Amino acid sequence: MREAVGLPQNSAKAGHFMLPTLFQWIHVGAAVMGVGGMGFLLGVLLPGSQVLDPAQRDLLLQAVLKRFRWVTWSVIGLLLASGLYNVRQVWEVPPGTYWTWLKVKIALALAVFLISLCLTVPLAAFDRFRERRQFWLWTAFALALAVILISAYLRRA
Ligand code: HEM
Repeated sequence: MREAVGLPQNSAKAGHFMLPTLFQWIHVGAAVMGVGGMGFLLGVLLPGSQVLDPAQRDLLLQAVLKRFRWVTWSVIGLLLASGLYNVRQVWEVPPGTYWTWLKVKIALALAVFLISLCLTVPLAAFDRFRERRQFWLWTAFALALAVILISAYLRRA
């Protein structure tokens, strides 16, 4: 489907490939860092930190999560910018299954961003939300994995 809408599949001009390649690199790189970071927190750091006594554990988690905030915010900005560029690239795809799944993917990605912001923006209004940090982190991680699955499908749709 995407081949039919004039993406530069066989273009001899290297310039045609440079910008899309750059944005694909940014998009995939940011996704790897964001989703990989969540997987590391959930699968390694949070369970691993159980060996520490509660005071040390809180200290470690506070320091790590404070740093991870900046990773989260950068990843969201990069995914949004490169995602919008990607949408422009596929704009000519005719309405149908492709667009249905693209809209589902974008809605799920926005839900992941919203959960991530509620977990990381240091506002008292989100404190209640942060009390269930692990639950929301698992939810965002599962949704992000679904986003990647849909993205893999879109590439071939
Ligand atoms: C949790 C956030 C997101 C993740 C993990 C993610 C991940 C991915 C991945 C892995 C790909 C495949 C790249 C490739 O095939 O080389 C992709 C493609 C794409 N993404 Fe995202 N993305 C996210 C958010 C977004 C957002 C917010 C938008 C739009 C505003 C977007 C629009 C697109 C488009 C249009 C494609 C190309 C689909 C195609 O191959 O036809 N993505 N994304």
